[in-house]
Amino acid sequence: MKTAEGKKPLLKEAYQFSVAPMLDCTDRHFRVLMRQITKQSLLYTEMIVAKALQYSKKSKLLDFNKVEHPIALQLGGDDPEILSEAAAIAESWGYDEINLNLGCPSPRVQSGNFGACLMAYPDQVAKCIEAMKSITSIPITIKHRIGIDNHEGEEFLLQFIDRMDAAGVDRFSIHARKALLQGLNPKQNRSIPPLQYETVAKIKKHRPKLKIELNGGLKTPDDCTNALKTFDGVMVGRAIYSNPLLWKQIDEIFFGDQEKKITASTVIKGIIPYAENHLRQNGRLWDICKHTLNLVHGVKGARKWRNELSRKGQQSNADLQILEKAARQLEDVGL
Ligand SMILES: Cc1cc2nc3c(=O)[nH]c(=O)nc-3n(C[C@H](O)[C@H](O)[C@H](O)COP(=O)(O)O)c2cc1C
Repeated sequence: MKTAEGKKPLLKEAYQFSVAPMLDCTDRHFRVLMRQITKQSLLYTEMIVAKALQYSKKSKLLDFNKVEHPIALQLGGDDPEILSEAAAIAESWGYDEINLNLGCPSPRVQSGNFGACLMAYPDQVAKCIEAMKSITSIPITIKHRIGIDNHEGEEFLLQFIDRMDAAGVDRFSIHARKALLQGLNPKQNRSIPPLQYETVAKIKKHRPKLKIELNGGLKTPDDCTNALKTFDGVMVGRAIYSNPLLWKQIDEIFFGDQEKKITASTVIKGIIPYAENHLRQNGRLWDICKHTLNLVHGVKGARKWRNELSRKGQQSNADLQILEKAARQLEDVGL
């Protein structure tokens, strides 16, 4: 693959630049918005509890728009049978990958015995992986921390990763912090434990054949370019959700696509047909509108624009004209 200028692109596969799973953020509407910015990178869903697929309406939890490809479904769970059933359903629903959450430290998730606490039970996780692998043909990946509580250190992490590799994990997304399961809430667990990129780098050095993605604290495309010198891929969360347009050149910089003009107004205009369809299906405009608020930053009038969009977008009778006007206002000022 070569770029328009004949240069070899930095990245070849979607997973090498991914948008992290984030509950209440990376829902299907945000993912469609992200597709106005990047067609190439891998998008993750929010975590779906595998058990919920047994009793909730599957389409509500799993439906996505075809523009969201390539897309990975993140599952939470600790039961091999339930997870393998969920994995089979996910594959038949058209997902490109299944990712098991082994990094979430929230008390609710711990009480269900999944997320980060499972790092203390590698044999159990291995059974889950094996069960999912046996029933699917799409990649099964995991997202985890560098350790939890007193399960930490390079040796612990290597052993954990080796066990997962033996079970058949296709790729490792490593949030380069440990999680403290007692005493810190999920938000604190995303900032207080220090980032330890060097620990993840050592894993890559000791296991060069494994696909290791770095996650945690990557704030700019330059951070990612640097990380990609060491790691196979990068996964970015908060820095994308809080400022999606900072990443408007992802496809160009990392995947060698031709330059495209992407602005706040082109993004909003791009999602209008999708919003129209959502309203037709009795969805609320706000479901989509709320994700557009972070498109405009640091310019005169940004707060006023956001306040107006937020106020009008939340009204029960909010219609498409609100998004159309928001896009026009931005276009008029060259945004
Ligand atoms: C609001 C929010 C929700 C999150 N939800 C999930 C989730 O559902 N599954 C998961 O594996 N990680 C979740 N995370 C963690 C992120 O995927 C990511 O690992 C973390 O934010 C560190 O990456 P960052 O520094 O690039 O944001 C969440 C993070 C945030 C901020």
